[in-house]
Amino acid sequence: MKIDSVVEFVRDLYNTDEFIPLHAPTFQGNEKKYVLDTLDSTFVSSVGKFVDEFERKMEAYTGTARAVATVNGTAALSAALYLAGVKRNDLVITQALTFVATCNALYHLGAEPVFIDVSRVSLGLCPVAMNNWLSEYAELTDRGCVHKKTRQHIRAVVPMHTFGHPVELDELVAVCRKWHIILVEDAAESLGSFYKGKHTGTLGDYSALSFNGNKIITTGGGGMVFCKTAENGVRAKHVTTTAKVPHPYEFYHDEPGFNYRMPNLNAALGCGQMEMLETFLKQKRVLAKHYETFFTGSEFNFVKEPEYASSNYWLNAVICDNLDSRDVLLKQMNEAKVMARPIWKLMHRLPMFAHSMRDDLKNSEYIEARLVNLPSSPTEILPL
Ligand SMILES: Cc1ncc(COP(=O)(O)O)c(C=O)c1O
Repeated sequence: MKIDSVVEFVRDLYNTDEFIPLHAPTFQGNEKKYVLDTLDSTFVSSVGKFVDEFERKMEAYTGTARAVATVNGTAALSAALYLAGVKRNDLVITQALTFVATCNALYHLGAEPVFIDVSRVSLGLCPVAMNNWLSEYAELTDRGCVHKKTRQHIRAVVPMHTFGHPVELDELVAVCRKWHIILVEDAAESLGSFYKGKHTGTLGDYSALSFNGNKIITTGGGGMVFCKTAENGVRAKHVTTTAKVPHPYEFYHDEPGFNYRMPNLNAALGCGQMEMLETFLKQKRVLAKHYETFFTGSEFNFVKEPEYASSNYWLNAVICDNLDSRDVLLKQMNEAKVMARPIWKLMHRLPMFAHSMRDDLKNSEYIEARLVNLPSSPTEILPL
């Protein structure tokens, strides 16, 4: 397939001769009205109605027991891991094929990542690989799951729903139960994605979402912690808002907290965007279908949602034959001002995680060398 025809196809989808970004936000609903409301009322910061409203809307949509809004997705991940009890010197299992924020969050709690391979179907953490690694290197003791040699506590696992495609959650939950490990979903990219009818982020003990400008909905910067129980939700709200004990005027904080609270200004934008979510989802799924049809029979293998899932198709992707064809696609698309990008460098190739424990990563390496993301902003196009 000629790359020119790919460029032309994407240009037709977006109906423009201008630069086409990978994922741009759109504000077509009440966003402006709600944001202006915060300016008019002066409640742009920690007080105001929109944070609660945004959290309740998210709970109603996803079915999570409790949603707690934060300043960004990285803060949500840090809070989720902290709430999961991750401490200095602990091991946390995760993917090498992820955005660096997943690892930064655990690193700053003093924990160390263990990189396990992903599945080629979901692009997310493989439960079989995780169980095999644990069987070889871990044992269950009175204090939980520990590494046989280093005696470090293996406290949590953070699978990531890559580009919105849900990982095999039932299987991961079963491995976590077997090994007494806490499941923290990195659902930063998967708002609107469902695993066997359940929203991603609702099966883990905790999970984290992002509303960065490139996500399916945005609050400018923002994130959210999902908690599986209402009780944990109360604690999540407490620790992310400086652990202040409620009182009309006294300041008393009963533990070292974080100031991760989302400002009302950002939450107002979030409330407006939440009203658009269904529209964005529909548009993105139609867009993905167009890509899938276009690439069928070509050397570019379109990444489809796993059959057990309904994906938000946050970022569309193709798998190229090899590194060379990936590089040609990247170069020619970007030269034609149609943005395309490779997947992240695997985490163990970054200096700060080069010495972390890791298992065989052949699927991660395969995907790293071949995957290209294509423009994925929601746009109005006719279904096929
Ligand atoms: C997988 C993943 N984890 C975490 C984050 C962090 O979110 P944020 O940029 O809002 O801090 C992002 C997105 O940026 C992400 O894609």
